[in-house]
Amino acid sequence: MKYVSVAIDGPSGAGKSTVARAAAAQLGYVYVDTGAMYRTIGLAVCRRGIPGEDTEGIRSVLPDIRVGITYENGAQHVLLNGEDVSSEIRTPEIAYYASRVSAVPEVREFLLNTQRDMAKNGNILMDGRDIGTVILPDAPVKIFLTASAESRAERRYKELAEKGQQVTMESVLHDINERDRQDMNRAIAPLRQAEDAVLLDTSALTLEESIASVLRIIREKTEEN
Ligand code: DC
Repeated sequence: MKYVSVAIDGPSGAGKSTVARAAAAQLGYVYVDTGAMYRTIGLAVCRRGIPGEDTEGIRSVLPDIRVGITYENGAQHVLLNGEDVSSEIRTPEIAYYASRVSAVPEVREFLLNTQRDMAKNGNILMDGRDIGTVILPDAPVKIFLTASAESRAERRYKELAEKGQQVTMESVLHDINERDRQDMNRAIAPLRQAEDAVLLDTSALTLEESIASVLRIIREKTEEN
């Protein structure tokens, strides 16, 4: 049996993971959040006190770590050498480290096979930055999910404020622009829309509308094939 792979790429804060997770649940597909894997490596680097700019230091961590993925009640958990770090990776500091480590070619190579293998074992919906372009270039469904920097900043600001984190709108927008710049301008696997990806701009859409749009695109594409 041939499994269906759905690749969803796009910048940070576009609601990608929330939308992708919900769409995967409705379809009964396994949801793979590849950003969490980069965050896990970022956490390992941070814990060792290695600066994010220290490429050599980042490389030196790789032989000592294993990044694992498990599912509990359908929810993805990431493991760093067997330790569940799913909550710990969700901080602005680790987002910064993730962005840094993801620009190191050896880090991307380190995760490549794990990500490709996941697509061999079942129907998956994988979200990231280079899924449609590098990891699963033959995926039958590719979606580039984006939103304006301002609307992404507004959503992120609300999220952080709800969690009680003290941030300003200005600093959130600055961080988003900075991460976009880093993700789009890195030499290896930069964030870009695959030629055969469907563009979905969620700036003016509610969460429910975004999920419905993703499901519609997947339905149309899988019926075509
Ligand atoms: O989606 P996220 O914020 O959890 O991603 C964390 C970082 O990892 C982000 O800076 C981009 C990077 N990333 C990547 O380079 N390639 C992927 N497939 C997924 C994430």
